[in-house]
Amino acid sequence: MRRDAPVQYDEQRETWDVFRYEDVDRVLRDHETFSADRSGSSASLGDDAGGEMSVLKTMISTDPPEHERLRGFVNERFQPGALREYRPRLEELTDELVDGLETRDQFDFVESFAVPLPVTVIAELLGIPAERRDQFKEWSEALIARPEDPSDEAVQRMKRKRGAAQKEMGQYFARLLTERQGGDGDDLITLAATTDELSQQEKIGFCMILLLAGNITTTNLLTNAIWCFEEQGLTEAVRSGEVSRKKAIEEVLRYRSPIQEIQRIASEDVEVGGKHISAGEVVNVWVGAANRDPAVFDDPETFRPERRPNQHLAFGKGVHYCLGAPLARLEADIALDRLLARFDSLEADLSDLHPLNGHYGLQSLPCRVN
Ligand code: HEM
Repeated sequence: MRRDAPVQYDEQRETWDVFRYEDVDRVLRDHETFSADRSGSSASLGDDAGGEMSVLKTMISTDPPEHERLRGFVNERFQPGALREYRPRLEELTDELVDGLETRDQFDFVESFAVPLPVTVIAELLGIPAERRDQFKEWSEALIARPEDPSDEAVQRMKRKRGAAQKEMGQYFARLLTERQGGDGDDLITLAATTDELSQQEKIGFCMILLLAGNITTTNLLTNAIWCFEEQGLTEAVRSGEVSRKKAIEEVLRYRSPIQEIQRIASEDVEVGGKHISAGEVVNVWVGAANRDPAVFDDPETFRPERRPNQHLAFGKGVHYCLGAPLARLEADIALDRLLARFDSLEADLSDLHPLNGHYGLQSLPCRVN
């Protein structure tokens, strides 16, 4: 598609698809022409709760200047410098999960590690009391659950479950936000509770979007890292430091990008790659295709952990550039460090892989440790 039909209209989905790095980059940067306000269409990330999220206005589906108001109050807290102070606590939380793996010589990496880690971390940052963590995990998982099969019945069941989880979680966040209004804690709920910039509904939306945008994506980064290292025979080299862990994580983000596509709506008539796109039309940019564009990356189909520069678009670009990118990188860095340090060997079984639906990741990844 990148070579033969880099910008193409799909009649069935009534969507433009954009594949080249240059064009994807341009669409994401130009927020004036390509709006993130997808209310009315089903979006790839922010609306992931099957449309129910659309009642909650969040940064991911708003354009400047409103976007700045919704993101501005928290931006600083997600910068690498601000996150550095959390490192020891994140190491502790990671170690607790690794302790649980140590008692077994075989486990499903996705279920036992990659799913619980991001939920635990975000619960910590939000300041969810320890005794509510299990309930919080259940809600978080229900929010991003997919139907067990494509039947109408399964889809309805999933929607009911999501709707119920979202409602209960919304009420729970609302209570915490009220309780912490005059608080001086340094958790994110207190930060939201004490800002004058946001309405109560917007504050609840902020808490929810962290879960919707941050959990499944980080789960998939962790899973895809173990998958890539096993496939490329790199696990030992990453453990020993012969291959830089940080650079290898960047290459996982490029090579197996958890988010493959991002949607925008053209807010005016515009030309992309010689094609005329009309105002109001949906434009789907394929991050996964851009990240393997030979015009930008040498030998793009090869996993090269030493790749430099590695200007992948896995976290998007422009004003909506992933708020959680430094956190996701930090979590992955700590997770791989602690896992590989704990076990003499970690082997993933790649013989029977089942992809997820809608995100680039795996349903399960059986691992054996020694
Ligand atoms: C490997 C993990 C992750 C990947 C691949 C990822 C990817 C992305 C992408 C591609 C976008 C841009 C969406 C768009 O332009 O419409 C985005 C936005 C966002 N991400 Fe992430 N993300 C990850 C982890 C996280 C984490 C851990 C959090 C928070 C705890 C987070 C929170 C957000 C938020 C709030 C936005 C919206 C930012 C805005 O609209 O200004 N993400 N992410």
